[in-house]
Amino acid sequence: MDRVRPRDGVAFITGASSGIGRATALELARRGYRLAVSARRAAALQELAANGNIFAYPGDITHRAEIDALIAAIEADLGPIALAFLNAGVFLPAERKGFDPAAIAATYAVNVEGTVNCLEPLLAVMTRRGRGQIALNASLAGINGLPGSLAYGSSKAALIYMAEALKLEYEGRGIAIQVVCPGFVRTPMTDQEKDFKMPFIMEPDDAARRICDGFERGGFEISFPFRLAALTKFVRLLPYPLRFRLLGWSLERAKR
Ligand SMILES: NC(=O)c1ccc[n+]([C@@H]2O[C@H](COP(=O)([O-])OP(=O)(O)OC[C@H]3O[C@@H](n4cnc5c(N)ncnc54)[C@H](OP(=O)(O)O)[C@@H]3O)[C@@H](O)[C@H]2O)c1
Repeated sequence: MDRVRPRDGVAFITGASSGIGRATALELARRGYRLAVSARRAAALQELAANGNIFAYPGDITHRAEIDALIAAIEADLGPIALAFLNAGVFLPAERKGFDPAAIAATYAVNVEGTVNCLEPLLAVMTRRGRGQIALNASLAGINGLPGSLAYGSSKAALIYMAEALKLEYEGRGIAIQVVCPGFVRTPMTDQEKDFKMPFIMEPDDAARRICDGFERGGFEISFPFRLAALTKFVRLLPYPLRFRLLGWSLERAKR
């Protein structure tokens, strides 16, 4: 599937008020895109919009009607959305303490249902035009089951599955679907982590460059850093007894 270019329309990013979303918005603007940026914190979006060619559309992705209206407003104001990076997500530290149904529901409400709320109107407008590119921000944490990450990791596994299924369904209709699986990136999300070491952690600007290179390259998967992605996928291929032993050992070593 051919990837889109800045001349095809605007780029839309959710979760752009901080971290990876904010850095990716700045990088896409640098690469020639006009951008519509979204998140709940309007003041942070306004500050980002001061960089030029970036327009703030505050909204909460858990509110379906609000997102429908927001996407319609972007298309009316700025033109067709050509590229969408569905990046908004949460990790709730409460889940580190053990099995917590409330944390699972709250995580799924944003990471899974919130993403679905954005997907529905975007797929509708892009299918009508027969052109578009949508990337879901999952995580390498979605590849193997990890303790302390039951809600977050399984929500990201759901996004990986969803992206795979959407790719097969929509590539014949002119829509390129991609999945982004970052390792550790230094953002307000990872700043909450005090109890374990984060191997190969990188800065948001570096992550944003790799994500935008992946948007331009096309193809399905944008995973990085290479060493952590390769290791994670290798472990996934192992038979369960070996996989559990290796994951248990590495988690023990990662504790601070
Ligand atoms: N940092 C990492 O190591 C890492 C690794 C792999 C994947 N990721 C993924 O990358 C994405 C961005 O995370 P980050 O690390 O950049 O953390 P972050 O700085 O905390 O960014 C999260 C973004 O999501 C937005 N958001 C949260 N709930 C929302 C809601 N209900 N409606 C709309 N927006 C909402 C936040 O904005 P508001 O609070 O203003 O709404 C914020 O802009 C997440 O999906 C995360 O899972 C991160």
